[in-house]
Amino acid sequence: MSTDVVDAFFEKNQQRFLDELFEFLRIPSVSTDPENAGDVRRCAEWLIDHLKGIGLKTVELHETPGHPIVYAEHLTQDDAPTILIYGHYDVQPPDPLDLWTTPPFEPQVREGKIFARGATDDKGQLFCHVKGLEAWLATEGDLPVNIKLLIEGEEEVGSVNLDHWIEAHQERLSCDAVVISDSSMFGPGQPSITYGLRGLAYLEMTVEGPDHDLHSGLFGGAIPNPINELARIIAKLHDAQGRVAIPGFYDDVIELTEEERADFAALPFDESGFLKESGAAGLKGEAGFTTLERIWARPTLDCNGIWGGFTGVGAKTVLPSKAHAKFSCRLVPGQDPDRIAQLAEDFVRELVDPALRVSVRPHHGGKPVLTERDAPTVQAALRALSRVWGTDAVFTRGGGSIPVVATFSEILGVPTVLMGLGLSDDRLHSPDEKFNVENFYAGVRASAYLLHEAGQPAE
Ligand code: BES
Ligand code: MN
Ligand code: MN
Repeated sequence: MSTDVVDAFFEKNQQRFLDELFEFLRIPSVSTDPENAGDVRRCAEWLIDHLKGIGLKTVELHETPGHPIVYAEHLTQDDAPTILIYGHYDVQPPDPLDLWTTPPFEPQVREGKIFARGATDDKGQLFCHVKGLEAWLATEGDLPVNIKLLIEGEEEVGSVNLDHWIEAHQERLSCDAVVISDSSMFGPGQPSITYGLRGLAYLEMTVEGPDHDLHSGLFGGAIPNPINELARIIAKLHDAQGRVAIPGFYDDVIELTEEERADFAALPFDESGFLKESGAAGLKGEAGFTTLERIWARPTLDCNGIWGGFTGVGAKTVLPSKAHAKFSCRLVPGQDPDRIAQLAEDFVRELVDPALRVSVRPHHGGKPVLTERDAPTVQAALRALSRVWGTDAVFTRGGGSIPVVATFSEILGVPTVLMGLGLSDDRLHSPDEKFNVENFYAGVRASAYLLHEAGQPAE
């Protein structure tokens, strides 16, 4: 088998690959909004047809209590490794719509970038693997390795039904490694493998005072105000060093090794570019850590939303009955989402003034992970990436979360290779999400080369 024919096929079919990705991106598969449930299903069905079309032997739609799972298999080589490729076809809601330069579900290329919701997270990156597989099937009529494909429609809502499905199909999913492209490369032209992801614990708290909104002139000063109290609690969640003040929060953190800190420091990180991309006026974080350490390997707490009282036009002199906030912790290896949620709840309960009540409700979370760096498939991915980009791939960590990675390690007992193909300025979850056309094409070739490298007998 040769990668030259695969290259030639790729050259000839580039435009078609882009057109097909556009079809995929046009389906508004927003998993969180019940109004889009039909679109999510239509997207799964589109994928099913597409995967059958490229010649995969087995392609199936599996129902779940939520959105369907797309599962495919192409097993040919008895003695070759088996790789499970995971991705998600669901996307985040597109709002706020008025901040998009062109509509989120009408993909467009501008200045070499594909703009659309899901362009990079995760339809574009997932599609790189679909086209990588097609390149082999179309030119050689076969794949260099055995392939299983697991594509879910609920990643953006916490993969709530996936663990159960994986447990139920454990034997069928047996493999040597999982490959996921749903993160970022280190930087433009600098390919990387992500060997760690942060986890997530997400909570919502409500502070309740009077049982109805009161006149702030008649009651203010004598009855406690839930918004004032919520703000006081939030202010106590961090100390002056920018550390999270919840007792026990750092107990289980696996600290970075000196070697990892040195490796991070040696990466050509463009800190001013990072700051510029955020649009903020300055950097701020936990004392004693660099920016890369803070986003990749330190746990954090951020408020995600806060509401209550009167927010309409003009002034209304009201002492509100309730105040609400959503807040979430990014977790690092060692920390357990359920334990952290419990510690946060205990702390908030202890902080609240006895003249008010607080309730805390957990949302979905996800476990942090560290992946093996020396697994054969990781080495195959490093070779594939280096060949495509013409420069050595590096190891990084990522600040986001992909909850299923922990499941793959716990239930299937196999390593996951996080081969991110996006860039850190892709605006995931934001208006004007994009995927560079160059990254899409490089991703297709990286996927095709990875299959080739993984199929080579071990040295
Ligand atoms: N693809 C992202 C995660 C990601 C992005 C990891 C970039 C590393 C680098 C994924 O779709 C995502 O958005 N995950 C959510 C968590 C989930 C439980 C909703 C997240 O990280 O907020
Ligand atoms: Mn994603
Ligand atoms: Mn996402």
